[in-house]
Amino acid sequence: MIKFDKIQQLLERESLDALLVMSAENRRYLSEFTGSSGALIITKESRFLMSDFRYKAQGAEQAEEFEFILQEKGLLESIVSFMNSKGLKRIGFEGEHVNYNTYSQLSKSFDVVPLTGEVEKIRLIKTDEELDLIIKACEIADQSYEYILTYVKAGMTELEVKNELEAHMTSLGASGPSFDTIVASGHRGALPHGVASDKVIEDGDMVTLDFGAWYKGYASDITRTFAVGSVSPEMEEIYNIVLESQLKSLDEIKAGMTGKEADSIARDVISAKGHGEHFGHSLGHGLGLEVHELPGLSQKSTMTLEPGMVITIEPGIYVDGLGGVRIEDDAVVTEKGLKKLTHSSKKLFIV
Ligand code: GLY
Ligand code: MN
Repeated sequence: MIKFDKIQQLLERESLDALLVMSAENRRYLSEFTGSSGALIITKESRFLMSDFRYKAQGAEQAEEFEFILQEKGLLESIVSFMNSKGLKRIGFEGEHVNYNTYSQLSKSFDVVPLTGEVEKIRLIKTDEELDLIIKACEIADQSYEYILTYVKAGMTELEVKNELEAHMTSLGASGPSFDTIVASGHRGALPHGVASDKVIEDGDMVTLDFGAWYKGYASDITRTFAVGSVSPEMEEIYNIVLESQLKSLDEIKAGMTGKEADSIARDVISAKGHGEHFGHSLGHGLGLEVHELPGLSQKSTMTLEPGMVITIEPGIYVDGLGGVRIEDDAVVTEKGLKKLTHSSKKLFIV
């Protein structure tokens, strides 16, 4: 398995006796174990999953490539005694996920090596199995958008729309929404992360819906903006600029570009129309076991896009006091360019 080869290279490169993995997504990625608590200890010879009594049967069943070790005391205490019993001395840990108390305890007993983003980098390139799950999560989001357009009416609150949308995704097989659903209507559209509120959606509002589904641990993330009743010429113009920026990005971004170069494709379109200052976030992000993962598509990103990465493309324009528009699709990077995974229409609907 490629992922374990890469872990072995990491052990070698950092001269580690073991890698300790405690974050939920990395633990799941490497072992398939979906429980809420536990740790992986991976050495050159062996792979161990340690968890408590609640997960004895589940851990042994899901983490086929790992030997299950029952946690007899607190997790950290059990990890320390187990690693001591195996004579492990130099331990790599996830620097960005381990808290200070855990670090202090570990450093008393071992020679600890903080690592950053090592498993996340392995997660960058999706396997075909992972891609199938993301595609299913995207299908659920697409079908739910089609449905919600038939449901939204002036007079409803944003929260009513969110609840109906999330219930619909669940009815299609999602285990839940992949993040707190954004429903930002009218002037609230200027809030890029305007999670649904009790604001009533009014005639003449534009509504930005940003939502996604979890499917078997994998996320989708889609945004569409539509109008209720009517659309002002000003907002229609903004919509068309965002759409042009988004379509150009989908068309031109390809493997070999950096995240910064990709971001610039979208940003240049919006800046040329005088709205540069109204596009204050990055173009997109990686998507998988987390809604936001590597690679970033931003002015700060030096990471190069490679086939198999899954990313979002989500330019937006936000004007205080007026409103906002964002359009977002999920796509996989291929040798030939981006292949879109979300397919909802981007026509400006007026419901
Ligand atoms: N969909 C929310 C975000 O990407 O930030
Ligand atoms: Mn997103």
